[in-house]
Amino acid sequence: MPCTVVVGAQWGDEGKGKIVDALSADADLVARYQGGPNAGHSVIRDGRTLVLHLVPSGILHPGRRCLIGNGVVVDPARLTDELHALETFGIDARPRLGLSPSAHVILPYHREVEAVAELGPGAIGTTGRGIGFAYRDKAARVGVRLGDLADREVFTAIVDRRLVRLRQEFPEVASLQTMSGPALWGQVQPHAEWIVPRLTAVSHELHQSLARGGRVLLEGAQGTLLDLDHGPWPFVTSSPASAAGAPLGVGLGPRAIDRVIGVSKAYATRVGNGPFPSEMPEAEAARLREAGEEYGATTGRPRRCGWLDLPALRYAARVNGLDALIVTKLDVLDSFEEIRVAVGYERIGRPVEEFPPDARILSECTPRFRTLPGWGCSTRAIRRWQDLPPRARDYLEWIEGGLKSRCRETAPPAHDRDRPRPRRWSQHLRSEPRGGGLRGETRRVAVPRSTKGLCR
Ligand code: IMP
Ligand code: MG
Repeated sequence: MPCTVVVGAQWGDEGKGKIVDALSADADLVARYQGGPNAGHSVIRDGRTLVLHLVPSGILHPGRRCLIGNGVVVDPARLTDELHALETFGIDARPRLGLSPSAHVILPYHREVEAVAELGPGAIGTTGRGIGFAYRDKAARVGVRLGDLADREVFTAIVDRRLVRLRQEFPEVASLQTMSGPALWGQVQPHAEWIVPRLTAVSHELHQSLARGGRVLLEGAQGTLLDLDHGPWPFVTSSPASAAGAPLGVGLGPRAIDRVIGVSKAYATRVGNGPFPSEMPEAEAARLREAGEEYGATTGRPRRCGWLDLPALRYAARVNGLDALIVTKLDVLDSFEEIRVAVGYERIGRPVEEFPPDARILSECTPRFRTLPGWGCSTRAIRRWQDLPPRARDYLEWIEGGLKSRCRETAPPAHDRDRPRPRRWSQHLRSEPRGGGLRGETRRVAVPRSTKGLCR
């Protein structure tokens, strides 16, 4: 692996957390590179659910060091809550967590102004976590960074300056009048007390580890079709969710990346507004939503459901330079007599070959579907490729073929030879209970109990 990126190949919620969790067993360091508490990875253990929003899923492995990179936006109060939730699961994350001082801080005013910006037409359907406005402050160079939490004077000066402008821009947001640098410092300071001692040069740590032959896993949030630059803008999130965001968001050079693993569901879901060409009619969507428990882990919103969209997946394979694709939640399709897949689009009577990363154009695209037979039996307990019903295998192989040969299988490096590795270009990974995916020819990956859960 030396440096592997795990990236969502759709609109997020593909089950990346589960894959990172499984791959973390072989990693020395796991780092998150973008996004913030808009992400959600549910872990079910002993009947209880834990949702990770900011802390990399690698934290579930005892002893694994986890880093939050410069590309992430951090809400200090939510991070503290997450650590408390981890404690109730018997996991003390603090000694193993490091954060980049360059990561930006989400403050209450980011959420307040986002709530107003989301009113009325043109709403993106955000998670309401202040993500876009925190990244806006970063780009405009008026934000607060984690490193600023070390100094009350620095923090209050930045915040007071920012509030002056925000009050002018958003006179309708009454709460801005009562906010101030010192008041927000009062809120943030208890969190700063534990965060500041854990600030670390993430880039340097990763370089050092790789130089010593360590293994690094870079964990993406959201998915390629929510990438700020490459998703169907403007219905995207505000960070680089595709693989290119990984080196940027942790301070590595692009050549440090050895392998890019994409994750896709066997169908498609999307949360929030914006075009979704392969979306199902609601009656069908409701059936799939129940079968796949498709509700947002962060907001609880019912997810929009649709069939797999091959042009979108092909696009994701290209934008990310995927080496492998892992297909999750195949069993959710078990009860479907027929399975449809969008194989192309038409726009104004003409075929469209490439996925258009522009919401206006994409909304004018009508999908062309191909219908495939379902396999008519449960694949839930299946752990090996050869045990899958032939039609389920056909489905996965057909997806593989539909992606054309833009992706390649990685030749594992010599020292990696006895490790589990994707044997096939695309892998089938079950949703629950797990343990079937990422099979190597030499041995099976032992999927830790902690990962036994549905990812949403
Ligand atoms: P934001 O990231 O909260 O600004 O939301 C922007 C868009 O990204 C909205 O469509 C959200 O529903 C979507 N989004 C953000 N995070 C996630 C996620 O983790 N899973 C799925 N959709 C997400
Ligand atoms: Mg999620």
